[in-house]
Amino acid sequence: MDRIRIVGGNKLNGTIQISGAKNAALPLMIAGLLTEETLILDNVPRLADVAQLQRILGNHGVDITSVGKRPGDRAYQGQTLHISAANIIDTTAPYELVSRMRASFWVIAPLVARMREAKVSLPGGCAIGTRPVDLLMMALKKLGADISIDGGYVIASAPGGLRGATIDFPKVTVSGTHVALMAATLAKGTTVITNAACEPEIADVAACLNKMGAHVTGAGTPRIVVEGVEKLHGARHTVLPDRIEAGTYAMAVAMTGGEVQLAGARPELLQSALDVLVQAGAEISADTGGIRVARNGAGIHPVTVVTAPFPGFPTDLQAQLMALMVCAQGASEITETIFENRFMHVQELARFGARISLNGETARIEGIGQLRGAPVMATDLRASVSLVIAGLAAEGETMVNRVYHLDRGFERLEEKLKACGASIERISD
Ligand code: EPZ
Repeated sequence: MDRIRIVGGNKLNGTIQISGAKNAALPLMIAGLLTEETLILDNVPRLADVAQLQRILGNHGVDITSVGKRPGDRAYQGQTLHISAANIIDTTAPYELVSRMRASFWVIAPLVARMREAKVSLPGGCAIGTRPVDLLMMALKKLGADISIDGGYVIASAPGGLRGATIDFPKVTVSGTHVALMAATLAKGTTVITNAACEPEIADVAACLNKMGAHVTGAGTPRIVVEGVEKLHGARHTVLPDRIEAGTYAMAVAMTGGEVQLAGARPELLQSALDVLVQAGAEISADTGGIRVARNGAGIHPVTVVTAPFPGFPTDLQAQLMALMVCAQGASEITETIFENRFMHVQELARFGARISLNGETARIEGIGQLRGAPVMATDLRASVSLVIAGLAAEGETMVNRVYHLDRGFERLEEKLKACGASIERISD
């Protein structure tokens, strides 16, 4: 089981190439199930979750080829996947596959839309919460699917095909919006989705669906309208840059000090996080090449933040901000409103000497002058990187265990940080 060893105290200076967004690549790959033609995706990040989804799609009979390096490819260029779902041979997504990568549950949408049936294992919870899928099933029922649960599997069927409907989500759900959007593209008639998630990854998937022949308008706003079509065709689409990866490295630079260019990052995808970083004392500037983040000598100022659906402060950057606030000059407050158990990193940060108290959804962080390195354990994807951020600033050595969590969502993390001056290495046992 790999570990990551960090010796803290180095500033970060240089350039980090931001990869394609994990949370766009996954639904985009699943959208390939909607057509018998080939969907080509560029700038797909090399992540464990992407590899796991390739296995799940392969189980349905989807052929996926990843194009190797081409002459002239830049070192950090994302991979290109050719996804061909000409013949779906199996409409079942088994527990042993779905339980390892929850978003694979979303295959239920294209399967029932195109094949008129699906049997998909309930994904189960994870470290950050129970992660129910009741709203995803509500959306499919509204579109005319019969939904039942048997033996831990959701069984969906629509022998006559799906029909357009109005789907009003009682709460903002990214997964619910993805499922409703993909299923609606092949439904007969018009679908209106209200209180839809506005995350940029939704708009990225909608843009790809429209290249495939779908008629989607309003993606990225709370009201999405889909005119169903008979069939979708192949297309080529480039995955948008990962706003969470960009925000994570921005927090790391704010923590260590220095100056880093986040190449390929787009500020409009993470403006709320950039605003918080400026409040915390970082210098942020953006140009067509990406986002420049710096902190040279200024102290880290405390902030008060509440996580919220886009365009609010993203829950996926909450743990990283908490690590930064541990070194602030004063007390900060971070309230987590999206997931019910997303403070698993608190007890691990405490091992660095952090003083954090929890009161329901709100964490109060007393800024301390100096962290001390320690052996720590990653519990979930984003919590694990908050420990890396703390280790970069801590005095002495930090050993982060269970880094398979990191590999799910951060491509070549230690390479990217080492190239900017961090003392960081992966130890494979
Ligand atoms: C997506 O998860 C992301 N994952 C998460 O990123 C992200 O934290 C989350 O959206 C919020 O932005 C991917 O895109 C693969 P939700 P998702 O449906 O879609 C509740 C990461 O680290 N809910 O918006 O599962 C749910 O429990 C991951 O990359 C229901 O109650 O999130 C949560 O409290 C972590 N019923 C809230 O809604 C449902 O049917 C938001 O969930 C669905 C969701």
